[in-house]
Amino acid sequence: MKRLLITGAAGNLGTQMRDRLKHLADTIRLSDIGDMGEAGPNEEIMPCDLGDQVAVEKLVEGCDGIVHFGGKANEGPWDVIRNANIDGIYNLYEACRLHGCNRVVFASSNHATGFYKQSEVIDNTVYPKPDGLYGVSKVFGEMMASLYHQKFGIETASVRIGSCFPEPNNHRMLYTWLSYGDLATMIERIFDVPKLGCTVIYGASDNSQRFWDNSKVSWLGWTPQDSADDYRAKVDANSEKPAADAPDVVYQGGMFTADDIHQE
Ligand SMILES: NC(=O)c1ccc[n+]([C@@H]2O[C@H](COP(=O)([O-])OP(=O)(O)OC[C@H]3O[C@@H](n4cnc5c(N)ncnc54)[C@H](O)[C@@H]3O)[C@@H](O)[C@H]2O)c1
Repeated sequence: MKRLLITGAAGNLGTQMRDRLKHLADTIRLSDIGDMGEAGPNEEIMPCDLGDQVAVEKLVEGCDGIVHFGGKANEGPWDVIRNANIDGIYNLYEACRLHGCNRVVFASSNHATGFYKQSEVIDNTVYPKPDGLYGVSKVFGEMMASLYHQKFGIETASVRIGSCFPEPNNHRMLYTWLSYGDLATMIERIFDVPKLGCTVIYGASDNSQRFWDNSKVSWLGWTPQDSADDYRAKVDANSEKPAADAPDVVYQGGMFTADDIHQE
């Protein structure tokens, strides 16, 4: 690609992927409302609030692909979620349509299907069961991706990310953990395949305990290399196992399923 846009560049995943993805394009355009530091070689910094339609239109101009990490990344009040994840995703796809940007990695979330039980194994085609306003906003984003694919041919992989952190640090994360390295190779594959279409894929490493079945997207050719199993002893030693009826062990979305609707 000539230019790849990474939104949410000041956040956890944006910071981690900034270097790991730099080989994908001549120029990496980084955007966020937070501090992204100085531009490195072949980088350009463009601060932008995703809720600002005019600014997002300018942001996307000249980009061939987008890795969309930006937005409210957990449960919160509706006006914050609406601005970043609802208006924000509409603004992003409208800008893609106007400027012919045809491939997007959308950082969706396992919280789009958080009310499935941990005793179930689900695939990427199940009916969503979001576990909060945040989860609903991710389902909305996936549907926006579908609409812009059907009408305008814009291709998207909506990645229902599990828990993408340096290492798993509780028992639920033994199922949901996604290493930074595995996320980076997944994004590489998403931009490499000649035809992507519009698809959903769960983002978890090669953990032996799992809730998610990616076999229907095996055509992507992504093979995670890391496993939460390597951290099992450490997790057992450092965190207490929740009671059998605790949300963290009943539902795939864990504690998000027990969260209230946030008023402010
Ligand atoms: N890290 C995970 O385990 C995980 C799991 C599931 C989904 N995700 C999704 O992946 C993405 C990145 O997650 P993260 O862990 O890096 O979260 P993060 O909160 O560290 O990063 C999100 C970034 O988005 C920016 N942002 C928020 N509102 C914005 C707005 N209105 N305009 C522009 N930028 C805005 C924030 O400033 C922040 O830097 C998020 O969309 C999140 O929902 C992450």
